[in-house]
Amino acid sequence: MSEYLPGLAGVPATKSNISDIDGEQGILSYRGYPIEQLAEHSTFEETTLLLLDGRLPTRSELETFSDQLKENRRLKFHTRGMMKNLPNTGHPMEMLQTVVASLGMFYPGNECLTGSDACEDINYIHNMSIKIIARIAPIVAMWQHIREGYDPVDSRDDLSHAENFLWMLTGKEPDPLLARIMDVCLILHAEHTINASTFAVLVNASTLSSPYSVIASAIGALSGPLHGGANQRVLEMLQEIGSPEKAEEYVDKRLANKEVIWGMGHREYKTKDPRAIILQKLIDQYMETKAGDVNPMFDIAKAVEQVCEDRLAHKGVYANVDFYSGILYTEMGIPADQFTAIFAMARAAGWLAHWREQLADNRIFRPTQVYTGEPIRKYVPINKR
Ligand code: COA
Repeated sequence: MSEYLPGLAGVPATKSNISDIDGEQGILSYRGYPIEQLAEHSTFEETTLLLLDGRLPTRSELETFSDQLKENRRLKFHTRGMMKNLPNTGHPMEMLQTVVASLGMFYPGNECLTGSDACEDINYIHNMSIKIIARIAPIVAMWQHIREGYDPVDSRDDLSHAENFLWMLTGKEPDPLLARIMDVCLILHAEHTINASTFAVLVNASTLSSPYSVIASAIGALSGPLHGGANQRVLEMLQEIGSPEKAEEYVDKRLANKEVIWGMGHREYKTKDPRAIILQKLIDQYMETKAGDVNPMFDIAKAVEQVCEDRLAHKGVYANVDFYSGILYTEMGIPADQFTAIFAMARAAGWLAHWREQLADNRIFRPTQVYTGEPIRKYVPINKR
């Protein structure tokens, strides 16, 4: 029997050509393109098509794809009605998982579930990917209004994916720099090799379950604080610290209590997460533009990072992408409990690329286990126990 490795650390679960991480050098690439180049030159729409198709699109392919995303932004009023009936106390990730799982009820198609070979049809796979990516963003934005008792803001066809999300979420014309920062955040979160939620995609895809079910299961996996839920915890932590001067005492106390510092550390990176470096530069650029008139969280975050660098760098623990994304989202007027849902909105691109890759060479997942229970024994009747 092969050796059991907790968390399957280092065990290859699949072959993939979608993205790659060099944790020693701090390099992340999508389809061979370093994340820094995509963050600088690409858009979420283009990066999504790159992830799905494996190559950069031509201008006309990109225009068609962007139009298809726009065409699929509007949601049926049944979906909206269902959302209105969800309790407003629920976490946005619970809402998102519920609503995405329900989409198959409202938009029945030529699903894998019918056994119609749809899972081998590349057009079906591509169309479903467009529909899911296009719809998750409006669902997240609509929830912000619905849970407060208001009607959602209608989508606009003149706006990009990131701009339309901010428009639907805040009801205000998006600030161009913040909209570009949101676009970059979506690019940075779109894909990240085989992590817990992507593994959930592979397992579900391998049973040929519907893509809504595949993505709903990934959303559930992403919701945990050790995965996507960390960005919300970062912001709560910074709020608790309250001022840069208190950062050192706070970090030391948590470390002494063997508690983690949210937004620090990564299973894969032993250097600073390259996505955190990009976000930090965007924050600096934003602070410069605003000439100091920005959220005090930026200064508290810098102080926390400095202390953590002193205390944790020798363990290969540095800031990860979640450390900075939450501060930027706050600046955009987004409540902390929505951060992980935004992560899901972006990661849907990578999840669906993995769904497609899995279906192209599918074998149902059936790992084994190391049994640690009782040997075979005789059933004891209830009156003799
Ligand atoms: N705060 C304090 N110490 C940390 C830490 C953190 N955020 N992350 C790792 N460490 C410590 C570990 O406790 C361990 O210490 P030890 O050697 O004294 O036992 C050491 O650094 C090495 O940890 P490592 O094996 O690299 O971590 P991991 O792979 O088991 O866990 C995470 C990775 C992401 C789960 C972990 O870093 C974490 O919980 N981070 C906070 C949550 C977070 O931000 N998640 C988002 C990830 S994108």
